[in-house]
Parts: sequence; C-alpha cells; structure tokens
Amino acid sequence: MSKITSLSKRRGFIFPSSEIYGGLESSYDFGPLGVEMKNNIKLAWWDEMSKNHQNIVGLDAAILMKPEVWQASGHLTAGFADELVECKSCHKRFKSDEIKQKLCPECGGKLTESRKFNLMMRTFVGPIENENSTTYLRAETCQGIYVNFENILNSMRLKIPFGVAQIGKSFRNEITPGNFIYRTREFEQMELQWFCHPKTAKKYFDYWKKERVKWYLNLGIKKENLRIREVPAGERAHYAKQQIDIEYKFPFGWKEIEGVHNRGDFDLSNHSKYSGEDLRYYDEETKEKYFPHIIETSGGVDRSFLTFLSNAYQEIRGGRTKTTKATKEMEILLKLDKRIAPIKVAVLPLVRNRPELVKKAKEVFKLLKPNFVCQYDELGSIGRRYRRQDEIGTYLCLTVDFESLKQDDLTIRHRDTMAQKRVKIKDLVKVLKEKLEI
Ligand code: GAP
Repeated sequence: MSKITSLSKRRGFIFPSSEIYGGLESSYDFGPLGVEMKNNIKLAWWDEMSKNHQNIVGLDAAILMKPEVWQASGHLTAGFADELVECKSCHKRFKSDEIKQKLCPECGGKLTESRKFNLMMRTFVGPIENENSTTYLRAETCQGIYVNFENILNSMRLKIPFGVAQIGKSFRNEITPGNFIYRTREFEQMELQWFCHPKTAKKYFDYWKKERVKWYLNLGIKKENLRIREVPAGERAHYAKQQIDIEYKFPFGWKEIEGVHNRGDFDLSNHSKYSGEDLRYYDEETKEKYFPHIIETSGGVDRSFLTFLSNAYQEIRGGRTKTTKATKEMEILLKLDKRIAPIKVAVLPLVRNRPELVKKAKEVFKLLKPNFVCQYDELGSIGRRYRRQDEIGTYLCLTVDFESLKQDDLTIRHRDTMAQKRVKIKDLVKVLKEKLEI
C-alpha cells in the first residue's frame, strides 16, 4: 500500500489532512487529480443507477437529522457498536475481534474486559450544548431515504418496485481506522435502496448482487481480485436478514468494498413506530397495504477509489521502451479505465525551445479544454513526459511535432499500447470523443 500512498501524494491524488499541523489520523484530502477521479467514480455509479436501470430516482438528504432517526434505525443502541478493549497502561484502544493476544500489542500492558463502543459521531445543533441540542453526523446515507419515503413516493408518483439512489458523506467514530483510505472516520457512500413487495425481495437481492459485481468488472476490476462473501447470521449488520459482501483482494488482504443487504421491513416499520406516521404502501390494484421490503446496495466511494487505484497500479522494471535511460528505471503505469482516469488527454509539444511548436500545442490545448479534462506539459524530454502521464493514467497523449506545422496534424499515443497515429487537428475533437466514448 505504501507505493500507492506515495504515488497518491506525489502526483496529487490524495494528501493527508491538515498535514502542516502534523496530520489528523485517518483523515485525507483529495487533491487535483483525486477530485477528478472521485467525480468520475460517482458519475459512473450515478449513470449506472439512473440511466441503465428503470424506476430509480435520486436524493441528496441532509447529513444532520433528528436524533430520533438514529433511535429508530438502531444505531444508538448495541446494534451499531464495536467491542473494544483498552490498555490499562497506555490507554490505547483496540477492536476485540482484531486482537489475538491477551496483552497490549503496543506496550505489553494489561487489557480491560471487552465492552461496547458506539460508533456514532456526536455534535450539537445551535449555541447551547446539552442533551436537547445533541444530534449525530449520519452513519449511513440511507436513513435520509427512508424518512423521505412518502415524500418521494408522492411527489414522483412512483409504484413499487422502485429505487432511490444517493451519494453522500457518512461518519463513524471507528476504533481502528487504517490502510490508507480503506477505513476512515469520514467517508462517502453510494447507496441504492430498492423498495419492493416482500414476496419479490429474494429475487431482487440476487439481481442486485449480480448487477453490482458487473459494475466493477465493467470498469476494469480484475475478476480474480473480486469475490462475494455470504455473511453468516451472527456477523450481519443489525438490520440485515440476508447480506453479502463484495470483496477485493487488496495488498493487505481480501476486504469488503460493498455490501448488498436484504433489510426486510426493518427500517420502514421502525420509522413508522417511532414517528407515528404510517409508512405502509397502498397498492391501488391489489388493494393490499404493506411495508415494502428494502434491498440495499451500499458501496464506499473511497473504497472504490482505492480498489480502482490498486487494480490499475503496475510497475514495469526497465520500462516499456528500450531507450537507454528508461531501461534503468522502474516505470509506473496506471491502467485505469478511461471513464475513471482523471486526465483524459495530455497535449505535449515535442520540444519546448521551438516557439512555433509551443504555440501550436497551446492552440490545440485551448481547443480541447472545454471538451475534455486535459493537461498541457512541456517540461522535460518527450519520453519522460509520456512516463509522467502513464503514471497518472492519462488515456491519450497528443504530440505536436515538426510535421504538425506542415500537415496541421499531430500524433495520438495510446497509454496501454503506446501505438501512435496521426490525426488532422480539424478532426481532433470528433476522433477523441470516439476514442474516449464520450
Ligand atoms: N447502509 C448500509 C451500510 O452503511 P456498511 O456495510 O456499514 O453498510 C457500506 O457500509 C459501505 O460503506 C462499505 O462496504 C464501505 O464501502 C463503506 N464504508 C463503511 N465504513 C467505512 C469506513 N469507515 N471507511 C470507508 N468506507 C466505509
């Protein structure tokens, strides 16, 4: 993971949060390339839900909600707590299920008995800090969907089955965050809540499980690094009747990146009970009134980000070209899917000490900028610039050379094959749109 962490910082994907003050544990900022890539991941998910499926609408609910929401959801009770032990000497805390030994792994001190630790992040609304003003940063985005069930149903005149998709920040006071952005206290989720008749819940659970695995494969995740784990009864989330985890093989082991849950009527019936609002669905045709069951797909934006980075990262000893310099070096190639790659196109004048080449390359850059996320780079040899672009996953490099001045064309170099082809500048936007499938 250290190679990915170092690339992320060096090339502007991810920085440690508050770094000039020593950093805040497990908090990260997405840099200029990180924000582009993160937006691409979210867009790929949003498009998948809103364009490739029927009957799915969106929501962007507030992070702060009434604390009653979290009573009803079971997050303030034992259901949403980790077992932890504390060292009596250094007072470090550890998750009970992650600690094998009887003594503190940090200092060898004695450990306390295991106890429950609630993961909700508490805050206060307004100037007075007391019990009445206490609320929580949401621990999962989906609760905003459940409490808006009726609003969405009525305003959009939907019929069961239908889905509500949402992307947003969630917060958990994790005891042991770590593995870079894999487990953090602030993270982003992409969640779909699929409301269906209880009799169809099993069918849709199987359907969404397959759809979600397909999404990762379609975006280039290697099949051999992806697997499904059926989560047994004792390990499931407190709301789940059935649960699978989609796991990715990271350098630190197989780990969950997304969960698919059959939540039954747990959420709507509890919110009905706690709020006094009847959240049952009335079927006009069958005259049946019932709590819809919910199939949820819940993925992490940050975990997807790390999955795409890990999946794409390649080191090529000696480099892919046979020039003397490159053969001595380790070349890094980020083979990201073109939809996920932060920079789609780089514009490079062959050399920077020829004003006519630089002028033409800048004109090309100006032409492309409104259409694609692109970079202009003139620093260093052309080989070095290709490698810099390969390292950040830029899909296409355009080189303006001496021939370009005569022919009004340039070469397009493909990141993965390194094959080069000449294209007329007048056709460039069209050709690039075809190549990038935009
Ligand atoms: N609404 C269901 C739910 O929140 P979850 O399994 O607790 O289910 C879903 O979380 C996904 O959210 C996880 O698969 C993961 O991708 C992401 N996630 C959860 N906790 C996280 C954390 N501390 N850091 C980063 N991502 C996290």
